[in-house]
Amino acid sequence: MFWKRKRRRSKKTETGSSWDYTEYHPALQGWSFDHEKAIAISDGIQQALDGTYSDLQKACSNSLDFWAKNGAFHLWEEEHVLLPILHRRLRLSSDRDIQQMLEDHAYLRSQIHIINSFHLTRRPYDKLLGDFGRILRCHVHLEETQIFPKLSEHLSADDLTELAILAECHRQAMGRPAPPHDQAPLQFDDSFPGRPSSP
Ligand SMILES: [Fe+2]
Ligand SMILES: [Fe+2]
Repeated sequence: MFWKRKRRRSKKTETGSSWDYTEYHPALQGWSFDHEKAIAISDGIQQALDGTYSDLQKACSNSLDFWAKNGAFHLWEEEHVLLPILHRRLRLSSDRDIQQMLEDHAYLRSQIHIINSFHLTRRPYDKLLGDFGRILRCHVHLEETQIFPKLSEHLSADDLTELAILAECHRQAMGRPAPPHDQAPLQFDDSFPGRPSSP
């Protein structure tokens, strides 16, 4: 296990944002709640690749189901709610992490379409699914360790409150389950497998 979620007590900074990333701001609880599910999907794929054909089919169905119920909405919310608010404070086109985040979104969307097509037409999709799982895991790692702290650095308290309201409204409108409100940031240890050079 290369990640954990540890509960921490709230700590407020004296300057700048009122949030110092020792805990998640409410604005990020929903996204991190989804991230935990995404890592479980990625782990399931990895295990299935070492298992039977039936394990692989199950992992593929779980991935498609996760995408339909959470993943697609999650990416939409990040691009239409989170990034426009961050755009007020940060030049997104010159930020390498944001560019990688958007590149991952395009890759994941593309990959899930291909996997779905291969699944429906009964063509082998083990490599496609394995690549999808690896990038999904790296994407969560990027957002939890680079993008979320960036929000702490650049957004004001009012920005974060607005982000929390908009994120919750969209989540409710889509009928997605509410996240727990006391999650600490996900933590990754040194055994985290890095991003593959080419998926
Ligand atoms: Fe995310
Ligand atoms: Fe994302």
